[in-house]
Amino acid sequence: MKDVVGQLAGKRAAAALGGGQERIDAQHARGKLTARERIELLLDEDSFEEWDAFVEHRCTDFGMEDNKILGDGVVTGYGTINGRMVFVFSQDFTVFGGSLSETHAEKICKILDQAMKVGAPVIGLNDSGGARIQEGVVSLGGYADVFQRNVLASGVIPQISLVMGPCAGGAVYSPAMTDFIFMVKDTSYMFVTGPDVVKTVTHEQVTAEELGGAVTHSTVSGVCDAAYENDVEALMMVRRFINYLPSNNREKAPYRPTPDTADRMEMSLDTLIPDNPNKPYDMKEAIRKIVDDNEFWELQPEHARNIVIGFARMDGHPVGIVANQPLVQAGCLDIKSSIKAGRFVRFCDAFNIPIVTLVDVPGFMPGTAQEYGGIIKHGAKLLFAYAEATVPKVTVITRKAYGGAYDVMASKHLRGDVNLAWPSAEIAVMGPKGAVEIIFRKDIGDEEKIAQCTEEYREKFANPFIAGSRGFIDDVITPSNTRNRIIRSLRMLRDKQLENPAKKHDNIPL
Ligand code: HXC
Repeated sequence: MKDVVGQLAGKRAAAALGGGQERIDAQHARGKLTARERIELLLDEDSFEEWDAFVEHRCTDFGMEDNKILGDGVVTGYGTINGRMVFVFSQDFTVFGGSLSETHAEKICKILDQAMKVGAPVIGLNDSGGARIQEGVVSLGGYADVFQRNVLASGVIPQISLVMGPCAGGAVYSPAMTDFIFMVKDTSYMFVTGPDVVKTVTHEQVTAEELGGAVTHSTVSGVCDAAYENDVEALMMVRRFINYLPSNNREKAPYRPTPDTADRMEMSLDTLIPDNPNKPYDMKEAIRKIVDDNEFWELQPEHARNIVIGFARMDGHPVGIVANQPLVQAGCLDIKSSIKAGRFVRFCDAFNIPIVTLVDVPGFMPGTAQEYGGIIKHGAKLLFAYAEATVPKVTVITRKAYGGAYDVMASKHLRGDVNLAWPSAEIAVMGPKGAVEIIFRKDIGDEEKIAQCTEEYREKFANPFIAGSRGFIDDVITPSNTRNRIIRSLRMLRDKQLENPAKKHDNIPL
């Protein structure tokens, strides 16, 4: 017996060493942690239960039969974060560059299958050279097996990807299908084809970092939801992030008691909106002042900054916040912002997280770039997402709600449950200047008349009361009391029941 126990300890020690001390040192030298160190930091102390540490690959080509490493390049299992169950896989770059073999894929699939059965989130720590080259199509099949499970798990359990090293080629599509992607600056990158292929095909000279680094994906492409300075920061942030999410689509997101009272007044909100309607203000200031403890977890803060999305708590319960940002492009909706917010609304709806929408939107962005880029289809994504969402929807119009964008931003007409407006709200087909230039086109040049008509239009339409008279706005509220009114609405909506018609699935404009 003693021998067998000793053997077990020996095997465990070998598995723990992955690709060996030299490669571990190289990983550290690059500022990266190992797969196991990452898991240790991510999970609660001593909570990790490892599976499949003794799995080995089955490849016999290219001398691989003599080159087997226990665990085969990925550490998998489950544990807890702040006491809540999560499943995790962590690719080990020290073992064949973290490349994905048939058995490596099987380990990830096992975790995904089990997480689905018990209803717990899956966190994937990606650090891999992609398909295990020696295995050929078997490895590609393994990727597809993972993809299939990512898709089936989508909307059932939250899936989070941390990209902490290379992630290239088709391999990017597993993180891409998860709910959130976080990256580490300087050490991680994601691209479908690397710089060498890019150079050959398009003659562009670009570095891996420029092509698919954390900064690129958190600013330009919007592929990643946040970029962190190093492994430790990324892992700590994910530990906090997961507190906003339910474990699965049958549960509500975790409640956290707060000393921040529901009826806290925020007097500064009464003067937040500038007198001049064309002057911007920071919508994030309004968000922070309304939510519990002024804590707002923003997602994609550097991408499509004309819309703000993220999680906060109100009355202790997580909510998804969507808000136009007048500071950037006057808060216009465009292709990127519609996609950014549309996907977020769908996440919240899939996982029973109420949506609070703050509106100050002058309309959709005009121009050929937008039209040629398909703003019609992409703008429809956000509209579609809001219209199909059945979770509680509370909307506050702080200033402009013009044109189609008024409809889109969780209006009453899209089954907004509670639609409130500040007295500064302007709910109209368009702004006074544009409206008058169209209605009184023949008078353009007569500055006095145009000014008079503009004033008349402003007085008549640039307010919340016409919408109020139709019931499109449930109430006009004092800005300082916004927190209280939203929380009361959310309390009223806590047991909201609403179902969409039975269907196989919808056909959101992709
Ligand atoms: C097998 C691999 C590997 C792979 C790296 N290694 N990638 N082994 N299959 N895909 C091994 C290396 O042989 C090396 O082994 C160790 O991992 C570390 O690799 P290095 O090249 O020394 O590291 P580095 O210089 O940091 O470069 C990392 C890298 C590079 C940029 C990822 O290794 C690389 O370009 N690898 C190939 C990437 C690739 O083309 N993958 C296939 C993509 S297509 P030793 O023993 O020396 O330590 C794909 C399709 C997915 O993934 C399809 C899904 C549909």
